[in-house]
Amino acid sequence: MNRAAARQRGHMGAIRMTTSLRVGIAGLGTVGASVIRLLERQAEALPARTGRRIVVTGVSARDRSRDRGVDLGGAKWFDDPVELARSSDIDLFVELVGGDEGPARLAVEAALSSGKSVVTANKALLAKHGLSLARLAEQKKVALAFEASVAGGIPIVKTLREGLAGNQISRVYGILNGTCNYILSRMEQEGLSFEECLKDAQRLGYAEADPTFDIGGFDTAHKLAILTSLAFGTAVDSEAIHVEGITSIRLEDLRSADELGYRIKLLGVAQRTPDGIEQRVHPTMVPKSSAIAQVMGVTNAVTIDADAVKELTLVGPGAGGDATASAVVADIADVARGIRSAPFGLPSDALEVAPRKAMQRHEGGYYIRLSVHDRPGAAAAIAMRMAERQISLESIMQKASAKQRAGLPSGAPVPVVLITYATTEATIREALDAAMGDGHIAAKPQVIRIERE
Ligand code: HSE
Repeated sequence: MNRAAARQRGHMGAIRMTTSLRVGIAGLGTVGASVIRLLERQAEALPARTGRRIVVTGVSARDRSRDRGVDLGGAKWFDDPVELARSSDIDLFVELVGGDEGPARLAVEAALSSGKSVVTANKALLAKHGLSLARLAEQKKVALAFEASVAGGIPIVKTLREGLAGNQISRVYGILNGTCNYILSRMEQEGLSFEECLKDAQRLGYAEADPTFDIGGFDTAHKLAILTSLAFGTAVDSEAIHVEGITSIRLEDLRSADELGYRIKLLGVAQRTPDGIEQRVHPTMVPKSSAIAQVMGVTNAVTIDADAVKELTLVGPGAGGDATASAVVADIADVARGIRSAPFGLPSDALEVAPRKAMQRHEGGYYIRLSVHDRPGAAAAIAMRMAERQISLESIMQKASAKQRAGLPSGAPVPVVLITYATTEATIREALDAAMGDGHIAAKPQVIRIERE
């Protein structure tokens, strides 16, 4: 026997002597089934890596009769996830039920209270109750791990919590919802309608059970709340997030962005400012040359600005069964190894309750698409409303061609696009309200913020 084989045999011998980690999984949808398949596929590698065999001893889901295409083996069935969470048949509870209240919350609390570690992919639960759950986990000296809750397969939680411990982070931003990025990418590249793209995202299993969570920006906000806490050592504060979704984005915005050298992405952005922590989710113009602009389809990306590492971008699959299961299994492996980190990087009592920075005080450049009555002086009057408030324009474009205008009655609305240099949200809103009052603008303005690198 060569030395490597002897080492391996010695190691495996040690594994046989330690107890298995008994896992209970609640929720056997796309991700739950993928977790079971992955544990099976890595049944030899995981004990070698963690020193313990990982065995699924209990499962719970809504419908027992459904064929999930996986072998549930000898796992005991529980109709009630809370019962599974409390069961003495398991050491670790994996929550893949979803929802910020109801069975998911009850089961996670029951597992932690009964001294079991928890692995969850539930961003909504953590965004709302992360602090109290972290406290409970600390009291009981068990792990609360949630790598799968943000950006699917990208190990962003570990990166922020451990990998960047030597940094002061100033900003974290990213594409955190695969469904929205998939929709915006296909609209831009194929000129397809929003509805068509959403249907495909649902068919492919990227979208949430209720897709308004995706397209309304709420899923991104839940993930951002978790990232903010990890990046800045603050108590999770999802209520502080300004949230806008992508439903107002039109093909003409995507085309204008392209002409101007930008792409439109739904971003979650968290930034430490002298006035507090700014957290916002909204469609954003990003320069085509930026790393984040290259990210297309269901892929997610997170960029971190930090003092030592400067800029770091992680890119990877943000949704889908296997990618999310990869993160769940990584957390299970940590529990098997006996790793128990403070869930949000600091003891929960040390997490800062930071002041919130109001969106009205946000500073940046803006893309504004207006429907303007085509009359002499209309654009000048709008520009005047901007100038009065010291808003400096980078460009102003009337988007109707001479041919299009020729077919329209005098004074009919035509699209005008403005790009501003940095100003504040409050100033832009005031200027637009004043311009609306002047009667030159025919419909609600489209306002998209520009994020510079
Ligand atoms: N619906 C989510 C997305 C799945 O589209 O990214 C992962 O949270």
